[in-house]
Amino acid sequence: MEKWMNLLTEELGNAFEKAGYDRSYGKVVLSNRPDLCEYQCNGAMAGAKVYRMAPVQIAAKVVEQMEGSQVFSSAEAVNPGFINLKASPEFLAAYLRKMAEDEHLSVAVTDTPKTILIDYGGPNVAKPLHVGHLRSAIIGESIKRLGRYLGHKVIGDVHLGDWGLQMGLIITELKHRSPELVYFQEGDKSPYPQEAPFTISELEEIYPAASARSKEDEAYREEAMEATHELQQGRPGYYALWNHILQVSVADLKKNYERLNVTFDLWKKESDAQPYIPELVAYLKEKGYARLDQGALVVDVKEEDDTKEIPPCMILKSDGASLYNTTDLATIVERMKLFHPDEILYVVDKRQELYFTQVFRCARKTHLVEEDTRLTFLGFGTMNGKDGKPFKTRQGGVMRLENLLDDISREMYQKIVDNRSVKEENAGTTAEIVGLSAVKYGDLSNQAGKDYVFDVDRFTSFEGDTGPYLLYTIVRIKSILSRYQEEGGDLAQGGLQIPSCESEKALMLELTNFGTAVEGAFEEKAPHKVCSYLYGLANAFNRFYHETKILGEEDQKQKGSWIQLLSLTRKVLETSIDLLGFSAPERM
Ligand code: ARG
Repeated sequence: MEKWMNLLTEELGNAFEKAGYDRSYGKVVLSNRPDLCEYQCNGAMAGAKVYRMAPVQIAAKVVEQMEGSQVFSSAEAVNPGFINLKASPEFLAAYLRKMAEDEHLSVAVTDTPKTILIDYGGPNVAKPLHVGHLRSAIIGESIKRLGRYLGHKVIGDVHLGDWGLQMGLIITELKHRSPELVYFQEGDKSPYPQEAPFTISELEEIYPAASARSKEDEAYREEAMEATHELQQGRPGYYALWNHILQVSVADLKKNYERLNVTFDLWKKESDAQPYIPELVAYLKEKGYARLDQGALVVDVKEEDDTKEIPPCMILKSDGASLYNTTDLATIVERMKLFHPDEILYVVDKRQELYFTQVFRCARKTHLVEEDTRLTFLGFGTMNGKDGKPFKTRQGGVMRLENLLDDISREMYQKIVDNRSVKEENAGTTAEIVGLSAVKYGDLSNQAGKDYVFDVDRFTSFEGDTGPYLLYTIVRIKSILSRYQEEGGDLAQGGLQIPSCESEKALMLELTNFGTAVEGAFEEKAPHKVCSYLYGLANAFNRFYHETKILGEEDQKQKGSWIQLLSLTRKVLETSIDLLGFSAPERM
């Protein structure tokens, strides 16, 4: 079905044309004087120069053509040349009736589906997920869902960090602690145990210990670098350990992501790209893209109109070791080969922006991707504490994601129990669901690129622009609908009628904007647009709800119509929160 706004614009275009002007002036936009009208058209202002007429005269001639319009119930030419518009209640009700019948809520599925690979999550094995990883997971997941809803083929890849110095550090620390382990016995060819010699909690203690020691102890650091190198050369004992680290870590990561309602199609790792490196290096040399710079192999990526210095992209260090860059370039090669995406989108901390500029330029210049392959960087800002500094635990340490979610759940639990009647046994599950909405909505409602303050009190509040407020609204609708059914009402019966009051019309008009909000959010990679749409919709619903006695209504036709409106509102709200990556409980 055609988008609501397009239908309005179409109608106005016709009027411009009938009045003798170009129809392209008929663009309809939301009114910026909601006290006067619902929509407006500013086309007469733009046409004035071309037609050498006062804009208000053009507007008046256009309005004359709108007599008897089925789409607008009122059109008015006002100074200096705006056309103020109100939608016809019949047309509006008919539009929503169709929307309600459509599984896909009148949102068109693209006729040019793209394959889009999203690189998000980006955790590193053996390091616990901390709040720094939260944003990538939450934002990436939402963009994936938005893209799919619009009919694109979206592939989510976690792109696990499993190939750096951190592996050498863990191996070295293990060797110091338990040199007797079979993995360290030179020449021991015996098969290695199936079970890892550590648990996830041990692993998570080992890494920070190793990392700290390497900063003070030069020899230890050298040893870790050597171990990394040997691992990369395929030393069997180290390779076996690396496998253990991976298994233990991935199991834990999956558990954490599941709790966040985040799922990946691919669990690819940095190490998967390593086999592509030798060929990539040979290619870059052979084609003359790479040059030696003090022994290191680099590709120049600066461009003439750069306003700041963009350093060359380093492919190999002077000792022949590959880098984060090399892995990312090789991963591009791999992704092109395996999935041939139209776009690769990276959802990564914005502090890596310069780095990705180098990688993208290098990939383009050396033709690792096609002319029209899009490489996009969506950089997100930092999640800060109330003090404006990166979010920390009360003791000032790095906050583990698990602990953050536990804290929020606990907070929600308290609120729910204080607030109302949910039985003790359900309160725990409900708190977890509502807590997730608090975290995710708190994050997503901010523009991705900006830093934001993670304010537990505000995010968990049932009032204001928060996840719990939206869920509360949904639960309120669900409860009215089930009471209606308990009283013998049939949700499948009843047709949506024209609005009975101003707040009902406002709610209906909000509903028509769903498709535009979803498309806009996806095109601009901006889930916060879905959030602001949702907040407006929830407010419109609550205003209508407070002014209307729905279940007490005597007129059964009227009541049935309101029930239909509620069902549709619920569907739009639930679909929207699903696109953001969370859900609503039955009761709250
Ligand atoms: N693991 C990296 C980090 O923690 C993020 C990975 C981002 N994706 C990428 N293709 N480089 O910083």
